[in-house]
Amino acid sequence: MAGAWWSNLPRPPNPTGHAAALSLREWQTQAAAQLDAAGVTSPRSDAEALLAEVTGLSRTERLLRAHEPLSSTDSARLDRLLARRLSREPLQYLLDAVDWGGVRLRCDPRALIPRPETEWLLHLALSDPAASQAAEVADIGTGSGALALGWKAARPGSRVTATDLSAQALALAAENAALNGLNVAFAQGNLLEPVAGQAFDLILSNPPYLPDSDTGTLDPEVDHDPALALYGGTDGLTLARRLAAQAAGALTPGGVLWLELDGRNATDFAAELAGQGWLAEVHPDLAGRQRFVRALRATQ
Ligand SMILES: C[S@@+](CC[C@H](N)C(=O)[O-])C[C@H]1O[C@@H](n2cnc3c(N)ncnc32)[C@H](O)[C@@H]1O
Repeated sequence: MAGAWWSNLPRPPNPTGHAAALSLREWQTQAAAQLDAAGVTSPRSDAEALLAEVTGLSRTERLLRAHEPLSSTDSARLDRLLARRLSREPLQYLLDAVDWGGVRLRCDPRALIPRPETEWLLHLALSDPAASQAAEVADIGTGSGALALGWKAARPGSRVTATDLSAQALALAAENAALNGLNVAFAQGNLLEPVAGQAFDLILSNPPYLPDSDTGTLDPEVDHDPALALYGGTDGLTLARRLAAQAAGALTPGGVLWLELDGRNATDFAAELAGQGWLAEVHPDLAGRQRFVRALRATQ
């Protein structure tokens, strides 16, 4: 692709005669090349995100000021962040917070980085006539709080409860709730056990669903996610099976269970649920992979 129009603008003179600091555009171009060489899958957007984070400039401001030199403070901070990204630390850890599902989320090693696929799970549930007006909602294995907070932001009238086995994840989720000014009840424990006796109109979950055999085969960034958040036994369905068994007794009549699973096991799991008295169907993600299971109890 030909260079963008701003790359042809004349460079401003350097009145000091000293070696000029890199301009915004030069830093971004060089950083993207280094990230590409390091195997980062989205080098340009990562470089752009770091530049936006450090300069605090909007996209338009960055274009208009593309040839201005970086301040020494920004330049030093950018280089520190770039070194961390080159070592394949996730971009999300290097940013103050990320936009996800209508909320701002801080990300760190205490919990899984929320994925775009899970935003689609949130969208599917919000668009589901049987779920969208749910009064009592549970997010099981909440991690950073993503689904719970995304739901609460979209449906402030519903009561949202979120559980996780990990105390560290729940601490981050509570910080994210405060960051967004949202009120969600958090409880630590195994799946629905900490809220035993409560009934829910909607149970959302993105449980650990990777087959254990994926260990050691994932991108370096994924090594930063807690193992507790990733693996779900031999076929990846251990946690999903336990959750469905608990959810059968926790859903209100007409209540819905929405799960995110793996493209290799979601269809099998929907069939398994259908054999256990659920009305279960599987939905694709935006790449066409069958990833999301929607299930209602057939005999209510
Ligand atoms: C795939 S992550 C999902 C995190 C978050 N919901 C998201 O979508 O970004 C799975 C989460 O389930 C939690 N978890 C694992 N085993 C659990 C269990 N037995 N009971 C409750 N939570 C569990 C993990 O700590 C992790 O936060």
